Amino acid sequence: MWKISQAREKGETVATSSTPSALAVAPATATAPPLALRPWLARDIPTLVAAHTDPQMRRWLLHHIDDEDQARTWLEQQERAWAEGTRHSLAIVELTDVDDPAAKADELDPVGSVSIRRLSKRLEAAEVGYWVASQARGRSIAPRAVEAAIGWATEYWATDPVKRYELIHSVGNDASCRVALKLGFELEEELPAHPLKFPDPGHLHVRPA
Ligand SMILES: CC(C)(COP(=O)(O)OP(=O)(O)OC[C@H]1O[C@@H](n2cnc3c(N)ncnc32)[C@H](O)[C@@H]1OP(=O)(O)O)[C@@H](O)C(=O)NCCC(=O)NCCS
Repeated sequence: MWKISQAREKGETVATSSTPSALAVAPATATAPPLALRPWLARDIPTLVAAHTDPQMRRWLLHHIDDEDQARTWLEQQERAWAEGTRHSLAIVELTDVDDPAAKADELDPVGSVSIRRLSKRLEAAEVGYWVASQARGRSIAPRAVEAAIGWATEYWATDPVKRYELIHSVGNDASCRVALKLGFELEEELPAHPLKFPDPGHLHVRPA
């Protein structure tokens, strides 16, 4: 669990003064900078559109963003869902300029997305989702961002905690399966394809809260 205060306690290279809008941070690795999770902003619209042109995004995500209008609609949906408490989507930024006091999390372009959604029919469970832009893959951004998001959600829901976190990916999405296993989400069930909602069969991975 990585919140700013905890990162500071552990002496991580995270300049809190430079991340005023960050809700959570994740530590650096030996080869990659720390991460911050922050709300999505209107300035991210071009980044969202560019990220969604990647073939892997088109292959494995159920929702696609084709242009700036769709990106704007998506942002509005996330804002509404956040206000209603049904879904929390966060932009992932890499803190490459932590020594630069001018580098604020909300001024850095996102390299990915992480979301947590409390399941409406089973409130004891929450589902995580993620993507990382093609140019930023292979730096453990997804696992670190999910861990930080779970840390944030655990505090956010402290008075009404969830019991388990779930993660579903399509069978064949090996990179996502690796992310799940690295995070300690065990494979619980193989899900059949659903003709309308899920074109591919899936893996349901689960981790206790
Ligand atoms: C799945 C995804 C989020 C992983 O993000 P990431 O930050 O690259 O995660 P990691 O760095 O931990 O890499 C995970 C796996 O991706 C593969 N990978 C590594 N480098 C890669 C690269 N440069 N490009 C593509 N895949 C790579 C490896 O199999 C790696 O597993 P390993 O660490 O055991 O070798 C990312 O590939 C992605 O966004 N894919 C398209 C959208 C998607 O599938 N979202 C998930 C839907 S359930």
